[in-house]
Amino acid sequence: MSAASLGGRRIVVSAGPTYEDIDPVRFIGNRSSGKMGFAIAEAAARRGAQVVLVAGPVSLPTPSGLQRVDVRSARQMREAVIAQLPADVYIGAAAVADYAPAEIAPGKIKKKDERLTLALVRTPDILAEVAVHARRPTVVVGFAAETHDVEFYARGKLEKKKVDMIAANRVGVSGSGFESDDNALTVYWRDGERALGPAPKTALADELLDLILARWPA
Ligand code: CTP
Repeated sequence: MSAASLGGRRIVVSAGPTYEDIDPVRFIGNRSSGKMGFAIAEAAARRGAQVVLVAGPVSLPTPSGLQRVDVRSARQMREAVIAQLPADVYIGAAAVADYAPAEIAPGKIKKKDERLTLALVRTPDILAEVAVHARRPTVVVGFAAETHDVEFYARGKLEKKKVDMIAANRVGVSGSGFESDDNALTVYWRDGERALGPAPKTALADELLDLILARWPA
């Protein structure tokens, strides 16, 4: 494995879940551990990049040599990411909630009827917004969690979100996924693809950075 330098590059990485508040004591979240995004940010910093890690609510220590910005909701993550542009690379490894409650109840919602309906609204798509931003990074990389038809959906996201690479989690592979230390990815770009792993997320992080560097040399 090469460890080509990323010196002088500015890389923004998002990681972890987002929590969308329902009321002062409840939220909608997901099981993202943040490990993949943290591993990418740590590897990039170790290789000399100037790294900003925008982290959702996770219980992970801050890797050395980078700037960490903690956020909670998709809306806050969007603000934090956009505020970091321009950058050379954006890697959207966060599992951003696609929907959030239409309103946050000011007080705790009390139980009443047998059925409660929660109105949800779409959150901003941070990855798609970064990809068409006036200060668009040179390289924009997204993640996708797919259970089936991985290539079809991953390539669809590549086109629809106008990004340069999609790293699809191969969720069927045993020992990989959200809480695991290992993962298996298939990375797609316009005219190619590469399967990475199964391997520790720390090793995959370096391999993903190598793929990015190989396609966008200094
Ligand atoms: N993403 C984002 N903002 C959102 C939703 C997703 O930036 N509001 C980013 C994620 O960080 C990730 C990619 O988009 O890089 C995931 O795309 P998404 O369309 O949400 O894919 P899936 O999670 O795989 O969901 P689905 O297949 O339901 O579309």
